[in-house]
Amino acid sequence: MSDWDLLEKECYECVKCKLHQTRKNVVIERGNREADLMLIGEAPGANEDELGKPFVGQAGKLLDMALYSMGIYEKDVYICNIVKCRPPNNQNPTEEEAASCISYLERQISLVNPKVIVLLGSVALKYLIRSELSITKARGTWLAYNKIDVMPTFHPAALLRDESKKTMMWKDIKKAWIRAQE
Ligand code: URA
Repeated sequence: MSDWDLLEKECYECVKCKLHQTRKNVVIERGNREADLMLIGEAPGANEDELGKPFVGQAGKLLDMALYSMGIYEKDVYICNIVKCRPPNNQNPTEEEAASCISYLERQISLVNPKVIVLLGSVALKYLIRSELSITKARGTWLAYNKIDVMPTFHPAALLRDESKKTMMWKDIKKAWIRAQE
């Protein structure tokens, strides 16, 4: 069994936190496992839970549009989340849920081995980097995770509420994409 097959199997069978009780699907990934650019969101929502893929709802459409507008396609990115099961009522994942799930994400990162990681929103920033910085402060600045360059930016759902963040998010992803291609 390959490392990926094993990871998938463990995720599908996971009962480490209570989110397994309410999930319809485990949401692991979409995109290219060999991509140089990895995008990490927070947690599956209702659409993702239904379809078993990350960022396939309204926020995902906005993310895809941002990527397409820069000539970045699904083959160029690997997309996943901090936690793999939907928190009920779209709550943020708790410390316990994130702690139960983080080792799967760490394995995904080491298998994909991307050049650059984009963190989408404050939850991803908090749980991957353990940063207490607000996303408004941290966005657009380079951070690091195990020697991988990390670019935090706004979560696409935040852009649905506040259009003025769009340009900043576009700029941050563009920066990340340029570095991923270097
Ligand atoms: N929001 C996220 O953070 N992840 C998804 O997969 C969908 C919405």
